[in-house]
Amino acid sequence: MKEWAFAIPDAENTVRIMEEAPCLIAVLNTNQKTPFEGIENEKRIVEICDSLSIGAAIENMILTATEHGLGTLWIANTCFAYKELVDFIKTDNQLTGIVAVGFANEAPAKRPRKPFTDIVEYR
Ligand SMILES: Cc1cc2nc3c(=O)[nH]c(=O)nc-3n(C[C@H](O)[C@H](O)[C@H](O)COP(=O)(O)O)c2cc1C
Repeated sequence: MKEWAFAIPDAENTVRIMEEAPCLIAVLNTNQKTPFEGIENEKRIVEICDSLSIGAAIENMILTATEHGLGTLWIANTCFAYKELVDFIKTDNQLTGIVAVGFANEAPAKRPRKPFTDIVEYR
């Protein structure tokens, strides 16, 4: 994935966090296989719907972990080591992402947000 080379430093930082976290939750889409092969349009629509559900599930996991005082990282950089990760997990289901859960050693300040008016368009 040459066009993604710019993201390698970020992926390396993700690996560091994965090594430090005591718990990694692999999130699998059991309706799909590898993301590195083409699929028919019908399957893509199912995949989009599944991705929405999976995103909501991950969000709920992260909110619940936060409520329990835990720190989390939502990881999509799994694509950089996709084969190694699915071989390690021993699955042929689609690895959608990983959620790292641990004990946060920092409490970063709130990140800046674009004003609502910049991201919402009324028609
Ligand atoms: C879908 C998704 C995938 C992400 N993947 C990664 C990742 O692979 N590595 C990483 O360090 N952070 C990852 N993050 C975390 C973001 O970089 C960011 O820290 C997090 O979303 C909190 O910032 P925000 O509130 O501005 O979204 C991901 C976040 C999302 C929503």
